[in-house]
Amino acid sequence: MTPKLVDPFQRDISYLRVSVTDRCDFRCVYCMAENMTFLPKKELLTLEELDRLCSAFVRMGVEKLRITGGEPLVRRDIMTFFRSMARHLDSGALCELTLTTNGSQLERFAADLYAAGVRRVNVSLDTLDEDKFARVTRWGRLPQVLRGIDAAQAAGLRVKINTVALKGFNEDELFGLLDWCAARDTDLTFIEVMPMGDLGNEDRVGQYWSLKDVRARIAERFTAVDLTERTGGPARYVRLTETDQKIGFITPLTHNFCESCNRVRLTCTGELYMCLGQEDMADLRAPLRTSPADDTPLEQAIRAAIARKPKGHDFDYSRQRADGQMSRHMSHTGG
Ligand code: GTP
Ligand code: 5AD
Ligand code: SF4
Repeated sequence: MTPKLVDPFQRDISYLRVSVTDRCDFRCVYCMAENMTFLPKKELLTLEELDRLCSAFVRMGVEKLRITGGEPLVRRDIMTFFRSMARHLDSGALCELTLTTNGSQLERFAADLYAAGVRRVNVSLDTLDEDKFARVTRWGRLPQVLRGIDAAQAAGLRVKINTVALKGFNEDELFGLLDWCAARDTDLTFIEVMPMGDLGNEDRVGQYWSLKDVRARIAERFTAVDLTERTGGPARYVRLTETDQKIGFITPLTHNFCESCNRVRLTCTGELYMCLGQEDMADLRAPLRTSPADDTPLEQAIRAAIARKPKGHDFDYSRQRADGQMSRHMSHTGG
């Protein structure tokens, strides 16, 4: 049997996040510059190559696969890839096949995703106000996303909303979002904005709204009981007694969760990032392409990369902007 992937800090690596495209039909202000240039198609791994890579990780002990982007559902023929990955669910090797999406294409794909074995989707939604939604995504249409969420739930998918906490933007919607999610029986996770990507004029320090404050505001109205259960992701959860809602907090800045990190990230060009908040990466495209029939060099390259996984990230708003910010965009590694 292939030995499992364990990093130098004895963390089991069982969660692979795969960005299948750098493209997106939105341009969220904290994620992409308005005039992003995208990779030429020939730079991308083919779906067959992505399949081979993901399957190697599954053989090496990855149990949870999250497909991201960019927006994963804008990649042509992506359902072929989901359907192919479903064989690892059927064999029992994979416990979860899931995706993080902006929701714009969910109306079209929800039923197919369910049929491929997906049971849960995370949908990014920072506001319930149409104008604000158009502003934060630069041109996205909220009703299209809401229809997508409806379609997902109708298809039997459990929906978790991801909301990036943004000062001066959605502070006033905190309770509105909680109520909306309670009414629809969707979980809700708040995320602290991370200093990634050179977005020109965007003031990330000014946008930063600590989740310590969010929790304190929630506690003014609700009783929040800490939950010990985890999903294998970075969120810590509470249950609100009054509404029986599950709320998650992803706090890379105020409460670093690196000690329990179980994940690595694969980009659509075959780079493996061992940490979202570090620049070090390993090229897996070369061993994939130079050895098309034998996965041994690929597996060796994966093990060598995991042996370099750092202890944690370097995000820090208290330092000078120039060195506290990473040049890599979130859309490159899929968050
Ligand atoms: P669940 O399975 O629902 O727990 O998913 P998840 O939280 O792992 O996935 P999701 O795509 O919803 O992640 C939400 C966001 O959490 C990501 O887009 C990132 O912004 C952040 N995140 C996830 N993993 C890490 C991590 O290892 N480090 C940091 N700093 N942020 C992370
Ligand atoms: N900081 C925090 N979260 C971000 N996301 C994108 N960019 C950032 C950032 N700079 C989130 C999206 C989506 C997930 C994939 O990552 O809102 O929910
Ligand atoms: Fe697209 Fe998601 Fe980035 Fe927004 S956060 S631009 S929806 S990839």
